[in-house]
Amino acid sequence: MMDRKSLRILLIGIGGYGINYLKELTEKDLGPVVIEGVCEVLPEVYNQFPVLKERGIPVFKTPEEFYEKHRADLAVISTPIHLHYSQIKTCLMNGSNVLCEKPVCTAAKGAKELMKLEQEKERFVAVGYQLNYSRDVLQLKQDILAGVFGKPVQMKALHAMKRGSAYYKRNSWAGRIFVNDCGVHDSPFNNACAHQFQVMTFLLGSKMDESARLSTVTGELYRANPQIENYDTASVRGETSDGIPIYYYTTHNLERKILGPVSEYQFELGTIYYGKDFGGGQVNEYVAVMNNGTSNSYGQISKGERMQKLYDAIESTRDKNHPVCTIQCAVPHLEAVEQLSRLPIVPVSEGMIEWLGSEDDRYCCIKNAEEVLKKCYLNQLMPGESGAGWSK
Ligand SMILES: NC(=O)c1ccc[n+]([C@@H]2O[C@H](COP(=O)([O-])OP(=O)(O)OC[C@H]3O[C@@H](n4cnc5c(N)ncnc54)[C@H](O)[C@@H]3O)[C@@H](O)[C@H]2O)c1
Repeated sequence: MMDRKSLRILLIGIGGYGINYLKELTEKDLGPVVIEGVCEVLPEVYNQFPVLKERGIPVFKTPEEFYEKHRADLAVISTPIHLHYSQIKTCLMNGSNVLCEKPVCTAAKGAKELMKLEQEKERFVAVGYQLNYSRDVLQLKQDILAGVFGKPVQMKALHAMKRGSAYYKRNSWAGRIFVNDCGVHDSPFNNACAHQFQVMTFLLGSKMDESARLSTVTGELYRANPQIENYDTASVRGETSDGIPIYYYTTHNLERKILGPVSEYQFELGTIYYGKDFGGGQVNEYVAVMNNGTSNSYGQISKGERMQKLYDAIESTRDKNHPVCTIQCAVPHLEAVEQLSRLPIVPVSEGMIEWLGSEDDRYCCIKNAEEVLKKCYLNQLMPGESGAGWSK
């Protein structure tokens, strides 16, 4: 174990989701840790984040500039996804462990190169899919691996979030397919609603720190919002290399703020539900209902910190081991993103679209999105098979 001297952290990208890491480190007690530096390209960073000045935290434009005179035990990357690959590489080359936001990079090929490099450099790269760090999910995975539920039969999930013009305008890559020739494939499936798909591959992995490989991925992709480049609604049908079917449904074109997450993981001996209504309202916990009538809720298990991934990355840096969400855990989702990018994107017919919201944040809704996605989820269908009527 490392001694208790302060562990040095480099934060790369603090203006978007990365603010959560800055807040956690400056507003909570994480033991002997120090923010050695921040990399940000925003103008007037010190004015925007007064805590940096208060704590005397230096700001750099690039990781290369930081490493000229500094070292970090852990680098935390929350930048646009097309920057992850090169920034992870720079951090590993300079001796840092890395916690990188999902997706780990933009292509499975690059992810595999990074796996090689982390081994060579004897450092870890952990990926920020937070469900993988949640203690109830980890207990559920342990139970799956211990055979409590028998063999998996079928996995499915639905998670949709309304996203409007404010979301797409917040940066230059939201909803884009390519940025500077780099395939970012930004979509609800790759970004905001990535977690519920990735966690299904994680839960089916044959070790705690592995995800199940996918042998096939197909689906139906739709673009309702004509102002974005990529798809904003997706229905995905995959199969693991062990032949377990996985279904996933997501959209940004909802009238209501959020739908789900709901999931149903069917095993030989029982089914694990999340977000199911057993009669008294939606239960936002994993509940296993066994075929013999008994049930067990994972809601009793404390999930851990909201940013548990940061706590785990710090602990693994000290203990010289690897947080549970490895690059491999991220690869099947990344491969699914790549597979889907080869499918056609079907424009949703204008008659099915309704624009809601205000001037500042306009939402493009598919009139029957909720009804169709629920029907598809219940019956493992694609929208085209369910009579959605979305295509022209
Ligand atoms: N785990 C989650 O729930 C979750 C939620 C939201 C976003 N994310 C992930 O976080 C990452 C960032 O997403 P976002 O929505 O915050 O993106 P964003 O583009 O809105 O913000 C990224 C930040 O990085 C900064 N930045 C850009 N180029 C930089 C550079 N060269 N060096 C240093 N900083 C730079 C930007 O100024 C900005 O402050 C993505 O990987 C995204 O998928 C994860």
